Amino acid sequence: MGIFNKIFGKKESSVVSTGPFVNPLEVEFHSHLIPGVDDGVETIEQSLEILENFHKLGMRKVITTPHIMSDYYKNGPENLIPLRDQLREKLAEKNIPLELEVAAEYMVDDAFDKKIENGNLLTFGPKKKHILIELPFMSEPNNLKKVLFELQIAGYQPILAHPERYLYMGNNRSRYEELKDQGILFQLNLLSILGYYSKQVQDSAFYLIDNKMVDLVGSDTHNMRHFSLIPQVFEQKYFRKVCDLELLNNNL
Ligand SMILES: [Fe+2]
Repeated sequence: MGIFNKIFGKKESSVVSTGPFVNPLEVEFHSHLIPGVDDGVETIEQSLEILENFHKLGMRKVITTPHIMSDYYKNGPENLIPLRDQLREKLAEKNIPLELEVAAEYMVDDAFDKKIENGNLLTFGPKKKHILIELPFMSEPNNLKKVLFELQIAGYQPILAHPERYLYMGNNRSRYEELKDQGILFQLNLLSILGYYSKQVQDSAFYLIDNKMVDLVGSDTHNMRHFSLIPQVFEQKYFRKVCDLELLNNNL
């Protein structure tokens, strides 16, 4: 039963809601809110402003996911966890009752195999086995199949970040089916519903929603501009449609 249906006690077959907006998402998943570690927020103040606004939107928890890439963003638990703790302290000082966790958005690059081998990955979820991965935008990496297999063998549940944004998949949609058949979960970006990235990305987002292939949604917020667009997403028919799927967000 989808999130809207759980809240309103409606049957799965009911027509998608058209009433006044109620945000059904309690857990925001996928953002870049650890200051100064990637292309997301730069200061602790910017981070706190966005976190406070997520709380006002009705979120009880934010799982933020800084980039980890071997070339550009050499982050890991050792630098991210102390920064998460600082932010938690600031949230407590400001009396903002928001749970904050840090995971990561791992780029599938040549060094990722090694990271899996070493363990100590930044994961999340009830069993701390969910892991968010992203792919290059230009072409699918050659080691993707191997990496996904290695993750699964090691007991992780891979989640592919914003599959609608990879045009090589949007242009070859059977690839979506293949990845789903391999047990990969898909996380859709909320701003894709608005057409923020491009019309083509929006079309792929609608395709994934129409075909019930979305497992989680996330904002991928890097800055206040991204955040400021989220209320518009909540008004979209396709936002309501995606919330009628079996989204995992509120169970994280
Ligand atoms: Fe991201």
